[in-house]
Amino acid sequence: MRNAFCVTHFAKYFFMIMAREPENPILISGYISPIYFCNRAIETNELVGAMKNGRNITLLSVRRIGKTGLINNAFYQLNENKSHKTLYIDVFPAKNLADFVKIFSQAIVEDEHSKKGNTVKRITNLAKGIKASVKFNSFTGTPELVIGHQEPEEVQHSIGEIFKYLENQKQQYAVAFDEFQQILEFPEKNVEALLRSYIQQCNNVNFIFSGSNKHLLESVFGEYGRPFYQSTGFLHLNPLPIDEYAAFIQHHFQVKKKQIDLEMIKNCLQYFNVHTFYTQYYFNRLFERSGRKPIDKALMYEVEQLILKERENTYYSYRNLLTKTQFALLEAIAKETEVSQPTSKEFLTQYGLKQSSSVSRALQAMTDKSMVYHENGSYRLYDVFFEKWLQKM
Ligand SMILES: Nc1ncnc2c1ncn2[C@@H]1O[C@H](COP(=O)(O)OP(=O)(O)O)[C@@H](O)[C@H]1O
Ligand SMILES: [Mg+2]
Repeated sequence: MRNAFCVTHFAKYFFMIMAREPENPILISGYISPIYFCNRAIETNELVGAMKNGRNITLLSVRRIGKTGLINNAFYQLNENKSHKTLYIDVFPAKNLADFVKIFSQAIVEDEHSKKGNTVKRITNLAKGIKASVKFNSFTGTPELVIGHQEPEEVQHSIGEIFKYLENQKQQYAVAFDEFQQILEFPEKNVEALLRSYIQQCNNVNFIFSGSNKHLLESVFGEYGRPFYQSTGFLHLNPLPIDEYAAFIQHHFQVKKKQIDLEMIKNCLQYFNVHTFYTQYYFNRLFERSGRKPIDKALMYEVEQLILKERENTYYSYRNLLTKTQFALLEAIAKETEVSQPTSKEFLTQYGLKQSSSVSRALQAMTDKSMVYHENGSYRLYDVFFEKWLQKM
């Protein structure tokens, strides 16, 4: 038993050390440390400041700009200076309150497991409170809570128990609920009111509510009469500043002895609309494909082609999944890059789109499906690579 313990712990630290220095410094998933995270100093300070000064905060941006990364970066700082314990809860996979209970309690268990000492002893009360049993994952050695089916009243009771557990902790906590708008999909009634009442009571905890659906989140926190009305400040996350982002990328290439011109990076950032995920993905691939020779335009173009080719099957399949008007509309928006008046006569005529009413419907459907987003008065495609692919069609 002791040996097994040592092996899992050794493996854990081995991977932690290995994970600190990735082969490719342009990450496309996960978070390692501020070294691989570009800037966001102001936004990080804002989150850290909110947590330290007892304020809750709502973090908003379109998908894949960097909210989750920013939460990680702020939590890294809070953990470094040991001012707060941090809990990250990804609400996205939860379909109902029972799922929410599972994800939330599991995050607590994993956090407890990362501390020294007897994890099971520390989580006994929590497990009892939510009527869960503890088992150990045979691969990772992490304790897991097993919760059987619960009636709605029991689930509500469990939520209360989780917050009670947090309240009973001596430390200050920062808790992030990522993709929080997901709670609006829960079938139970009064979820907002229920959560709000517990959150309000937790004096040693501050909360970050983060989400990609601006419209929904703004209504949760900004609509008069709703339980969370004006209970948080807002932080809108914008794309990274081009100069800093370009310098960050060039620095990481240079560290690994790869030469790339700063202006070329900037042009490329502009081309990808500085959308963080797509930018990271592109430069991750460029890093992989480049050697000691200075990176030239031909290689940059080749990598773009490679990415579009890889995704081509998916993009072709959209043609079968979407209606003709929807696909034609996406193509038209892509060709314009952004469109402020998609139902104007000029736009419709230019792209051979028929009635404005069917285009309106298509636009709504594409927005609902997160193919298109509306920001600063214009419509744009979410997937920058899809946009580029359509532009080249
Ligand atoms: N400041 C940053 N520097 C480097 N990479 C970043 C930065 N912010 C986000 N990323 C990367 O961009 C991708 C999308 O970011 P993510 O935080 O998942 O976006 P969101 O939560 O807004 O959907 C991730 O792969 C992440 O690693
Ligand atoms: Mg995210």
